[in-house]
Amino acid sequence: MTTSLTLRRPDDWHLHLRDGAILRAVLPESARHFARAIIMPNLVPPVVTARDARAYRDRILAALPKEMTFTPLMTLYLTEETDPADVAHAHASGLVTAVKLYPAGATTNSASGVRDVDRVRGVLEKMAEIGLPLCVHGEVTDAHIDIFDREAVFIDRVLDPVRRATPGLRVVMEHVTTRDAVDYVTSQPRDLGATITTHHMVINRNHILVGGIKPHYYCLPVAKREDHRLALRAAATSGDPRFFLGTDSAPHADPAKESACGCAGCFTAPHTLSILAHVFEDEDALDRLETFTSLNGPAFYGLAPNDTTLTLTKGDAVRYPERIETGDGPVTLFDPGFPLHWHVT
Ligand code: DOR
Ligand code: ZN
Repeated sequence: MTTSLTLRRPDDWHLHLRDGAILRAVLPESARHFARAIIMPNLVPPVVTARDARAYRDRILAALPKEMTFTPLMTLYLTEETDPADVAHAHASGLVTAVKLYPAGATTNSASGVRDVDRVRGVLEKMAEIGLPLCVHGEVTDAHIDIFDREAVFIDRVLDPVRRATPGLRVVMEHVTTRDAVDYVTSQPRDLGATITTHHMVINRNHILVGGIKPHYYCLPVAKREDHRLALRAAATSGDPRFFLGTDSAPHADPAKESACGCAGCFTAPHTLSILAHVFEDEDALDRLETFTSLNGPAFYGLAPNDTTLTLTKGDAVRYPERIETGDGPVTLFDPGFPLHWHVT
């Protein structure tokens, strides 16, 4: 039985760090294990311009404890007013690694997102030309589309048409939650990748709703049926280079989640690697954990994998705190529902 596993240091290809007091509290949780992360731009107000991204990157680096190293890979929040020249300049200067498309109204702080993709064609064409990837929140927002169908409908109505209309555009379908998305990604050429979160490999929709509503399991896209969860686990553990880790660790202070209108997001940064090792061991795929956490993501983004390593060890159950304290209130950790035996040493 394997009890120790050394990996190239992982990266997180989809992370919410927020700002201010929450940023200061959650950043070390990611920096402890991850060398780099794609930083989501859905602040209030959002990170729209190169100037916004530079200022946010400076705030992140200022919040990083001195003894830690961590590289924030910045993204721009795509709006219908985004200037292709500003995007190209931000890319050329090495400031941004991707642009994020939020359909307006799809999720947390997406009000300034895109209503009509025709209005961002110029930016997408520029991105295809310069090789800057587009990260996509893949859900339609039409009120009459059932929330459990929004990802599958997005593929047909938005993602596939946009990719056909913009040859050469590299796209990451973020936090895929359905078998439909896994099948679509695997049916396409290598210019389409997908991130998979830790929590979507652990929970299905029953975890949210059976026996009382569990706000800390509510995230977007919402977890689907068991069959979809199994498809995500199979994709993540397959070694297919198109699938890589994006935790979508998304902290909200507890009162904002435990509310009559609770925010979407699961906070997994502190124990993601412990949970993933458990999942990969369950799937008899520990030998492919490094591919998922540390190799496929850099390859997709055209970056070198990290040259440092991290070791996971299996032993007695590890205890993580139930919540971490922040200057904006406590933030509860995602509860995987099983004891964790792998820990980073
Ligand atoms: O669950 C989520 N939380 N999904 C998102 O798309 C956004 C995120 C957040 O920012 O809280
Ligand atoms: Zn997210």
